[in-house]
Amino acid sequence: MKRTAIYPGTFDPITNGHVDLVKRGLRIFDEIIVAVAKNPKKAPLFTLKERVMMAKEAVKELGAVKVEPFDGLLIDYSKTKGVGAIIRGLRAVSDFEYELQMALMNRKLDSSIETVFMMPSEEYSYLTSSIVKEVASLNGSTKGLVPEIVEKELKKKFRQ
Ligand code: COA
Repeated sequence: MKRTAIYPGTFDPITNGHVDLVKRGLRIFDEIIVAVAKNPKKAPLFTLKERVMMAKEAVKELGAVKVEPFDGLLIDYSKTKGVGAIIRGLRAVSDFEYELQMALMNRKLDSSIETVFMMPSEEYSYLTSSIVKEVASLNGSTKGLVPEIVEKELKKKFRQ
């Protein structure tokens, strides 16, 4: 049986830290669905369509990875996909409390779906989408921190 996991996030935008986590996930799972949340409460810089496009481009050479948008509860989306695991990254102790809360709430909503935590490479442990956006907005270089497509789209966005 194919083992598929969902890697959910806002991905506003996807960073090399996220891509690193997808690669790590592929060592454990046969297939990963990168699920891009609409997440209007975060008031994303990029539209859902743009975020999906960038994520698709970023993972296109990794093989068994699909990128899809979703809205509503993550657990409902996971159920419609028939997936038994959710992957999340834990970069630092500061991530833990929020991640624990989310994992336990998701378990309460559906105990058949497990959350699996993975550590991203230490090279990216300080990265967040917000910090990348801030650097780009102030004309700083994001080279090596984000996939090339994201670098390009960030430049476009802040030139507008
Ligand atoms: N490398 C780099 N950055 C990472 C990272 C990694 N490995 N892992 C997480 N991050 C960053 C993200 O880019 C994000 O940065 P930002 O805050 O600067 O934008 C931050 O860490 C975490 O953001 P957060 O909003 O906590 O998570 P998310 O964007 O990854 O996604 C959802 C959260 C979408 C999974 C969650 O809100 C969700 O499930 N929503 C659907 C509704 C739902 O089901 N709600 C009930 C949940 S219990």
